Amino acid sequence: MICKGKIRLLRANFKQVQLFVPKSLKNFMKNFLQRASSIQERINELTSKSAEGDLYGSKGFIEKADTIASWMKQAGLETRIDNIGNIRGTLKSKTVNAKTFVIGSHFDTPATQEKYDGIFGVLSAVNIVENLHAQQVELPFNIEVIAFAEEEGGRFNYNYLGSKVVAGTFKNKFLELKDNNGVSLADALKSLNYSAEKIKEDAISPEELLGYFEMHVEQGCVLADANIPVGIASSIYGQKRIEIKFSGKHGHAGSTPMDKRHDALAAAAKFILAVEKYAKREKGNLIATVGKLIVHDSASNKIAGAVTCTVDIRSNDAALLSEAYESINSSCEKICDKRNIYFEWKLIQETDPVICNKKLRRLLATSISEKNIPFISLESGAVYDAAIIATVAPVCLLLLRSFRNDNGNSHEEEEQRTIATSLEISDHFLKQLISSSEKPFRKKEK
Ligand code: HGY
Ligand code: MN
Ligand code: MN
Repeated sequence: MICKGKIRLLRANFKQVQLFVPKSLKNFMKNFLQRASSIQERINELTSKSAEGDLYGSKGFIEKADTIASWMKQAGLETRIDNIGNIRGTLKSKTVNAKTFVIGSHFDTPATQEKYDGIFGVLSAVNIVENLHAQQVELPFNIEVIAFAEEEGGRFNYNYLGSKVVAGTFKNKFLELKDNNGVSLADALKSLNYSAEKIKEDAISPEELLGYFEMHVEQGCVLADANIPVGIASSIYGQKRIEIKFSGKHGHAGSTPMDKRHDALAAAAKFILAVEKYAKREKGNLIATVGKLIVHDSASNKIAGAVTCTVDIRSNDAALLSEAYESINSSCEKICDKRNIYFEWKLIQETDPVICNKKLRRLLATSISEKNIPFISLESGAVYDAAIIATVAPVCLLLLRSFRNDNGNSHEEEEQRTIATSLEISDHFLKQLISSSEKPFRKKEK
């Protein structure tokens, strides 16, 4: 959890701003509170619907996607589901050959897990664009709302498949990814009537993609601890995800002397502590986690012959990340050599550290300041679809304080107020984006 950040408090504590609210502003806020509560209702509806699970390709997944698509249509967006399962709604500009600005997040986090993770950003985007449409705002560029599939990698153990398709970085070899039942992504697409052949057409070319804005609840404690409603991400950590299989020798716990053992679990345990020690030594901008440990064919009276664990290494510094990857690999080698254990090391996935676009961040900061809302700039250790889109376009990420409240208000009330604040900011930010003179946020086309 990256609970660090440059705390740039622009206003007094958020609560004080709310003490005196003139009538006109009260209506103005009421409107945002009403819009926030409609987002909460929709999230609760999705949560109740996905009780039987909404894993990629399941009945719950299809139902969830169709429901979100219906909300995009209701908002007046030209809506489609693409060939990986992203749900896409576009509000077209009248300008000929207009480029596209994307606002989105992911919709795949099981609602039973973290209720607002991803879906909050999707439904806020729909709400904001619906509002622009209702106000008949003239658009100099198309706005596409995208609800990304498979950010969490829940089925194929591979993150960001949806945003990779939009960024044009989806690789055909991903079609061979297999789920726990051995079903390939290619077969899953077929069962959903998506076309693997047409996936490439679902990308938005870098020339056409003006930029990307994501709103996401902070998966950390910086904002909540500072009692600040929002933060602007300055950077997003890079990540390497690894899977390691330790192979030793099964043996009976009672009849195998200590000096005759090849205990895969003991080796893995030694390695896990070595990973923690390495990351702790780096003090701050390197984190490493062993999140999964599976002891295969285990029993309490059996010496473990086979163990699998995962390692998740992250840093805002690409060189530090690579150095950590190599060092942790070599410490694994040393531990296993010493114990006569064989190990298979598999790099599952890696993303580079990302710097969020300065122009977009400045525009977002101005929008927030003009609304007299306190904010900070902070680094994000959590990785978002924004990190994938950043490989082809300028991105910015608005983080909302996590919905943990210890001041006694009901969660829903606190959440509603925080969502209303982010709607007020994002409404204003989009209008600034539309009216701002510096149209293309990217360097001048060559
Ligand atoms: O792992 C992450 O940082 C993201 O929540 N998927
Ligand atoms: Mn998540
Ligand atoms: Mn998320």
